Amino acid sequence: MPGEGDNDADIMLIGEGPGKNEDEQGRPFVGRAGDLLTDLLKSAGLSRAEVFITNVVKCRPPENRDPRKSEINKCNPYLNRQIRAIDPRVIGTLGNHATETLVDEKGISKIHGKEFEYEGKILIPLYHPAAGLYNPALKETMIEDIQQLAENF
Ligand code: URA
Repeated sequence: MPGEGDNDADIMLIGEGPGKNEDEQGRPFVGRAGDLLTDLLKSAGLSRAEVFITNVVKCRPPENRDPRKSEINKCNPYLNRQIRAIDPRVIGTLGNHATETLVDEKGISKIHGKEFEYEGKILIPLYHPAAGLYNPALKETMIEDIQQLAENF
């Protein structure tokens, strides 16, 4: 599941890996977390069509387990080629796995909304949309973070 969106997008969002729905439909973020992601984008005046959405790993980890380091490493050249091809101005990493793949700091609750640099681009770690499903109190912060990201492009 390679991802989808505008190949010329200024904003690229990178999640963890396809879940069951994404695997079946061949599209990223189409389940409940995806609906929340679509709403978050809307709150920042963005549509899915104008960003590019992909994942760190391109195949669904069995039983929805976390992707292994070896799997992330295997998919990394693919992800890096995508980043270079789309050449966004801003990258939003969704959750700990995506963030730790591209940034040398850990702990999304500490670093969400902060600005990092990745290959000359602005990178802003964001909470994974699923976090807002488990903990609706986070949604306000998630909206602020995505609005900050939208202002940067
Ligand atoms: N969670 C992710 O990290 N990526 C998807 O595509 C769907 C759910």
